[in-house]
Amino acid sequence: MRIESARRVRGRLELPGDKSISHRGAIIAALARGRSTLLNYSTGEDCRRTLEALISLGVPVERDGSRVCVTGRGPEGFRAPDAWIDCGNSGSTMRMLAGVLAGQAFASTLSGDDSLRSRPMRRVIEPLELMGARISADDGRAPLHIRGRRPLMPVAYTMPVLSAQVKACVLLAGLSARGRTEVVEHGGRTRDHTERMLRWFGVPVETTRRGGDGDKETPDDEDETLDDHEETLSEALAVEGPASFEARDLSIPGDISSAVFFIAAAALLPGSELEIADVGLNPTRCQILRTLRELGAAIEIEEAREECNEPLGTVRVKGMAGLGATAATASAAAARSNLILRGSLIAQLIDELPLLAVVGTQVEGGLTIRDAAELRVKESDRIAAVVWNLRAMGAQVSEHEDGLTVNGPCRLRGAKLSAFGDHRIAMAFSIAALLAQGETVIEGGASSVGVSFPEFYSKLESVVER
Ligand code: S3P
Repeated sequence: MRIESARRVRGRLELPGDKSISHRGAIIAALARGRSTLLNYSTGEDCRRTLEALISLGVPVERDGSRVCVTGRGPEGFRAPDAWIDCGNSGSTMRMLAGVLAGQAFASTLSGDDSLRSRPMRRVIEPLELMGARISADDGRAPLHIRGRRPLMPVAYTMPVLSAQVKACVLLAGLSARGRTEVVEHGGRTRDHTERMLRWFGVPVETTRRGGDGDKETPDDEDETLDDHEETLSEALAVEGPASFEARDLSIPGDISSAVFFIAAAALLPGSELEIADVGLNPTRCQILRTLRELGAAIEIEEAREECNEPLGTVRVKGMAGLGATAATASAAAARSNLILRGSLIAQLIDELPLLAVVGTQVEGGLTIRDAAELRVKESDRIAAVVWNLRAMGAQVSEHEDGLTVNGPCRLRGAKLSAFGDHRIAMAFSIAALLAQGETVIEGGASSVGVSFPEFYSKLESVVER
């Protein structure tokens, strides 16, 4: 993919449905009884893998573009697949389906591409084995050979790594257990789409939070906005199994993790004006907007509302001198010290960290990311990939085991980069390319973005002005 620098971005966009919500919608609809219609289903390859996996398990799925109908017959409606299930590049497909398959009376195998077969799966094997499933896997990596058990035994499980995929896996398995299954996350809060989706389908999920004010039961209606975000030390989620529930239609908001590439480009290129309609604004996903605002970005939310238990709205961004490249000449008043992202913030920014590293090269004082060793086991080693590409563009970067430090501001120069087969690396460095002097070539860029956002480059071209 060849990308020239840009003057600014302008226009209005609508984006495909959120990847995390799409996976959960399809899987939970398959566990329900009846026909659910899912609107604005993600167009990415990863979410297609989830649908194909469900089809191979005997679940009727019809698809017409972004409209998907799933006919569930409850957990007993699944049948043994004829072959290994290929999850492609999708960690979410593998980890969430493992939770469903653990509660089936048949054996099945989940596999995937080279990247997925190198990623850690002990984090789901351990709780599922505690619940009575048997899973064999070489060195804790896929292929996962799952021998399910029905019913599963309930567990109270504290996750050793903060992961929304693991939380989803255990809660989905809990639906097939006899009794109360609880999963606890400590030291930060991961995205809460599973809890919200289960409640949308009428399945009670009990939430107990321990924050600064001690234990607190939280009802379904959360009261958090972009400006008022509650700090939570730990959260326990519980479901009661076996659960039986009815189909429900679902409308999926635009993917904020796709929107942020455009938002960052608009914020960094002075003169930009961009509006993105119907973006998911779940508080556990919006930390990126808070962080960009903290760095001086002019981001406004309009038409904030809730649909199908998920908040969404229109995001408006204006490009400001002082945050972006012109910060090099900004007055002393704009000078900032190095912004440090660490601790509980990391789980909330996990998919946006490569982009934030790029943003960090453009802001006064630069930026440091720590406590983010998880980045090394994503679709690529995202710390190494970011460091490699940023250095090729002339940025000053130090690599840490659990993160990186970038100096800023700096004028990036066009270079030959690699996507490292990773969609978010391709997209983050496409934004870097817009800011750079001269042309950038991203090897594997075009083929990588498809797993979450096949329309990325056409949407980008539609708003870029040169
Ligand atoms: C996801 C959770 C995150 C994220 C991934 C999607 C999800 O992974 O990186 O893109 O939908 O639950 P982890 O759970 O491994 O942190």
